[in-house]
Amino acid sequence: MSVGYVAIQWNRHKRVYDACIAGGVVLYLSVFMLAGKAFYRGAHAISDPILAMRALATCAFLMLHVVLCLGPLARLDRRFLPWLYNRRHLGVATFLVGFAHAFLAIGFYHGFGVIPPLVSLLSSNTNYTSLASFPFEILGALALGILFLMAATSHDFWLRNLGARAWKRLHMLVYVAYGLLVMHVALGILQAQRSWWPAALVGIGVATVVGLHLVAGMRERRHDEAGTRRVTPDGENWVAVACVDDLAEARGCTVTVGGGERIALFRHDGGISATTNVCAHQGGPLGEGKIIDGCVTCPWHGWQYRPRDGQSPPPFTERIETYRVRVLDGRIEVDPRPLPPGTPVEPARIADRAG
Ligand code: HEM
Ligand code: FES
Repeated sequence: MSVGYVAIQWNRHKRVYDACIAGGVVLYLSVFMLAGKAFYRGAHAISDPILAMRALATCAFLMLHVVLCLGPLARLDRRFLPWLYNRRHLGVATFLVGFAHAFLAIGFYHGFGVIPPLVSLLSSNTNYTSLASFPFEILGALALGILFLMAATSHDFWLRNLGARAWKRLHMLVYVAYGLLVMHVALGILQAQRSWWPAALVGIGVATVVGLHLVAGMRERRHDEAGTRRVTPDGENWVAVACVDDLAEARGCTVTVGGGERIALFRHDGGISATTNVCAHQGGPLGEGKIIDGCVTCPWHGWQYRPRDGQSPPPFTERIETYRVRVLDGRIEVDPRPLPPGTPVEPARIADRAG
């Protein structure tokens, strides 16, 4: 809940997270180099720069898979949530490792001629109409450009300046970068006529990313369809969304009303409150959070809002939408029309359950 530009705040969690990333990268590169030297011997020996280039390339590509899989994994199993909190650090690290690979590749393949390396990269191969000799490096360069854009705008400062919606759209480009990289790698393998297993590994990676997104998406869809619309005689649009007994004290849950709108419900102090499911920070799923110190606490980075009015506790000023909610015969019903952010709503008393 920052109020202006502040440098990245490293806390213990983030330090441990970053140390894990750095340690993992160093370990991966070392094992790859040692194993590569043992594997590529004799007539198949390859030079150290090419081995390092491949080590960095596969490391960055693997990291991108982890970045992409963390979202659906956290939706399917809450134990992955801590890994999602600082996913941006993993994204920036992916860009840096990818950049090191690209730097080495450009230096090695384009750095020894009379033409400047970047000009050589763009002009040495223009066979855009042939798959067998397509300039696959350009696809890597485009992907790197997108990863750079995302790394450069990953700080909350940009989130605030661009607005959550534009920022999110920009960061969805990661899927475009992924598609470009899959083509970059697949064409690279095809053109080098490498053995079948690197292609098989890429196939497994793509199937994992696509499969996890499909499974998580289907599960959310089933969940979304569970909401049932009910119009009361007075013409008000109340939607029965859950039972009081579905909700544990100080816990949240997510329900969906018409149009796929997600609402977060919270049970606390003998009452039920409803707010938007979308955190004002980076759109984290508030319904997957819990009540801490009387406040709805986002599971991603811990931003807090009072359940009664959707306002962050002072000195913070963020506000989220609230919803009218009532309890009838143990059923929780919400009016799906969001109230302006920060609007106070009296929690529905659970004691009202008898109707
Ligand atoms: C300007 C940007 C880039 C250039 C010029 C470039 C160039 C290359 C080249 C020349 C190869 C073949 C290396 C070999 O001889 O085996 C390659 C392979 C590869 N690149 Fe890139 N690349 C770029 C960006 C990226 C990025 C951003 C990633 C990942 C995040 C990436 C991932 C890979 C992978 C996974 C391979 C296959 C490695 C292997 O065959 O073991 N590249 N790239
Ligand atoms: S998305 Fe970051 S705290 Fe909610």
